[in-house]
Amino acid sequence: MTGGVPADGPIPVIAIDGPTASGKGTVAARVARTLGWSVLDSGALYRLSALAALRRGVSDTDDQALADIARGLDIQFLGDKVLLDNDDVTEQLRHEHIGEMASRIAPLQPLRDALLERQRAFRQPPGLVCDGRDMGTVVFPDATLKIFLIADVDARAQRRYNQLIEKGFSANLGDLLTDLKARDQRDQNRSVAPLKPAHDAVVVDSSNLGVDQTVDCILAHWRNRI
Ligand code: DC
Repeated sequence: MTGGVPADGPIPVIAIDGPTASGKGTVAARVARTLGWSVLDSGALYRLSALAALRRGVSDTDDQALADIARGLDIQFLGDKVLLDNDDVTEQLRHEHIGEMASRIAPLQPLRDALLERQRAFRQPPGLVCDGRDMGTVVFPDATLKIFLIADVDARAQRRYNQLIEKGFSANLGDLLTDLKARDQRDQNRSVAPLKPAHDAVVVDSSNLGVDQTVDCILAHWRNRI
């Protein structure tokens, strides 16, 4: 048994989906560390595709070229660091304009198709915790536990603001709020893999929860599940 799962069953997956800045990434990494599992930040793959396209001068509407870029991405996840073509792009990936472009190219089906198998390849023993928008609906529909992590938009804007200031970036709370609302609209209303809870997802509202409490809540759901 690993993480409470029989060794001969399918490799377990905990899928954490939710809107931008809901804390999914931090929470997914902590849950994975506690269980000793791998982690997949699927948003990073969309951000990496956006960054690689910018570097190569590929337009954000050229869906075939973007799919080729996604298929050929030379990336490494080394602990908290992300390398693109052996270049440390960890900080750059978090820039607002990269998140913005990732959100604009994410609806393109050829790009999503190109990233699908790359994402599934992260499902390695003893288990995977992944976060994104369509982990429980499209990428891992057979995930053992599906969490839909929400938080109200003001709480998310404030968290994003605090993160940026902590890292020494300048930020404007009003602009962040406007940007988050626009991104929510785009992620929820696109026809391809829209942001929505899987029918069998557990909705967790973290508006009034700290990271530790959110992690504990997800681990409690996991223990109930097994
Ligand atoms: O989670 P994030 O903010 O790093 O994601 C960046 C963008 O990528 C987000 O606006 C939508 C897109 N995305 C997606 O469409 N599907 C995923 N599974 C993850 C991210």
